[in-house]
Parts: sequence; structure tokens; C-alpha cells
Amino acid sequence: MKLGFIGCGNMATAMMKGIIGNGIASPEEIIGSDVSEAGLLKAKDTLGIQVTGDNREVASAAEILVLSVKPQFYETVIDGIKDVVTKEQVIVTIAPGKTLQWVEERFGRPIRLVRTMPNTPALVGEGITAACRNENVDDDTLSEVLRILRGFGKCEVVPEHLMDVVVSVSGSSPAYVFMFIEAMADAAVADGMPRAQAYEFAAQAVYGSAKMVLETGKHPAELKDMVCSPAGTTIEAVRVLEEKGMRSAVFEAMKACTAKARGL
Ligand SMILES: NC(=O)c1ccc[n+]([C@@H]2O[C@H](COP(=O)([O-])OP(=O)(O)OC[C@H]3O[C@@H](n4cnc5c(N)ncnc54)[C@H](OP(=O)(O)O)[C@@H]3O)[C@@H](O)[C@H]2O)c1
Repeated sequence: MKLGFIGCGNMATAMMKGIIGNGIASPEEIIGSDVSEAGLLKAKDTLGIQVTGDNREVASAAEILVLSVKPQFYETVIDGIKDVVTKEQVIVTIAPGKTLQWVEERFGRPIRLVRTMPNTPALVGEGITAACRNENVDDDTLSEVLRILRGFGKCEVVPEHLMDVVVSVSGSSPAYVFMFIEAMADAAVADGMPRAQAYEFAAQAVYGSAKMVLETGKHPAELKDMVCSPAGTTIEAVRVLEEKGMRSAVFEAMKACTAKARGL
């Protein structure tokens, strides 16, 4: 199997690291291109993949081709490769807002296409990716693409109309979680804890809490209630978070994120 990545930035690197680390593909089976010479050298040195400055070389060589550039560069990239892509190859997109129909129209002829939305925890094998396909992708081909996407975390097939929601709930959400960890650590530092220790305690608390939601199957509210003793310390913190509008801030931020994805 030959895997190609056009654009070797943050997301592609996270995906390739998981794919190689989990033995889904070897570095020799991956080829990447990028406009940035420094990015290419980094990908070659850290991942051992084959690299080139020519997107068309990647598009010709890959059986599964990931378009891992920013959404605003999709049109130029597709224009540059569309005549070398065959209908046997599978194109995988990872850009917010770029619908199956939009990408098909840019290629201007039938292609096999899987639209996905990964996230950067892929870098540590804990990503979650949503995927949907066009009508030219059969079940076996989709299974093969999902096997690759599961090389760096979980992957679920969702209807295309949910892809913009996925952007806000998992594609972008690591940023909000990092802000939350940073804020908790800052507060712990303000109360006297050394900074490195504060990051460790805050991050582990988030990690363990997420694991409890995933593994116990309990409603998050029930788990929250379990921490809140009557007249205790936690309910005081919860009271202040409600007063400061934490839920509403998250709600509004995610609605803005989804709306932005829809407009890209
Ligand atoms: N980062 C995330 O958390 C995340 C999560 C989910 C999905 N995504 C999606 O993943 C895609 C890539 O994001 P990213 O964060 O990895 O971006 P990134 O770090 O900027 O990587 C993109 C790379 O592509 C290069 N590039 C630009 N134009 C090119 C062209 N015409 N041909 C070949 N390479 C080109 C860029 O070079 P220059 O820097 O020189 O422009 C850069 O090295 C985006 O569509 C993004 O929305 C990202």
C-alpha cells in the first residue's frame, strides 16, 4: 500500500506518526510533499518517509492520497494534481468545510473520495476521526481507509451533515481543553504549587475524568455529582463556574466554531 500526504504540517505529521508507530504502514510506504523545504526535511528526519517538493509525484504514487493542506489551499492543490489522479486511487480530505460535492466538482470527474476530520491527539495515538464517503467508495475501500485512520486513535463513520459539528466537538476542541488545563494550572500556581507540578496535576485530572466518562458509561452530570459533597469544596467551585457562565461560554464558542466551518 502506498500512502501519500500533500502537506506535511501538524496534522499530517500526527497522522503519519500514529500510522507508522502502530505498524499500519512503514515509512517506505509513505510519500509526502510540501512547499516548505524545512517541513519536508523535518518529515524525512523524524518519520523516515520519502519526501518531494512535487505534489504531482505524490498524487501519482499514492493509492490513498491525503490532502493535508489548509482549506484555503485546497483549490490550488487540486488544480495542480487533478489530471494525474485516477479513479482507482482514494482521495482523503481532512479540511473543515470542504464538502464531498465541493471536492468532486474541483476534480471535475468521478473520484473515490473520503471526507474526514481528525484531531491532533493523533500524535499520541488518542485521536478521534469522523469519516464519510462518496458513492464511488465501496465497503472494502472504506474499511481500508478506516484501518489507516484507526492507526492514530478512534474513527467513526458519520453522516456528512455532522462533519461541521465534528470540527467543533473534536477537531478544534483540544485547543479549548488545553486552555482549561492552562487556566487550572495558573490558578494552582497562584495558590503556591510549582508550575511543572501544576500542569501534571491539571492534565492528569482531565485525562482521568475523560477516561471515567468513556469507561463507566455514566452521565457526566452523575460523575460531577459524585465529586460534590454537601457543603463541600467542589460545589463551591461549581457554583462560581456557573456564575461566570462556563457552560454558556463553551456552548457559544462551539456554535461559532461550527458556523465558521460551515462558511469555509
Ligand atoms: N491542526 C489541527 O488541529 C487540525 C485538526 C483537524 C483538521 N485539520 C486540518 O488539517 C489540514 C492541515 O492543517 P495543519 O494544522 O496540519 O496545517 P499546517 O501545519 O499549516 O500544514 C500544512 C502544510 O502544507 C503546506 N502547504 C501549503 N500549501 C501547499 C501546497 N500548495 N502544496 C503542498 N504543501 C502546501 C504548508 O506550508 P506553509 O506552512 O509554508 O504554508 C504546511 O507545511 C487543514 O485543512 C486543517 O484544517 C487540522
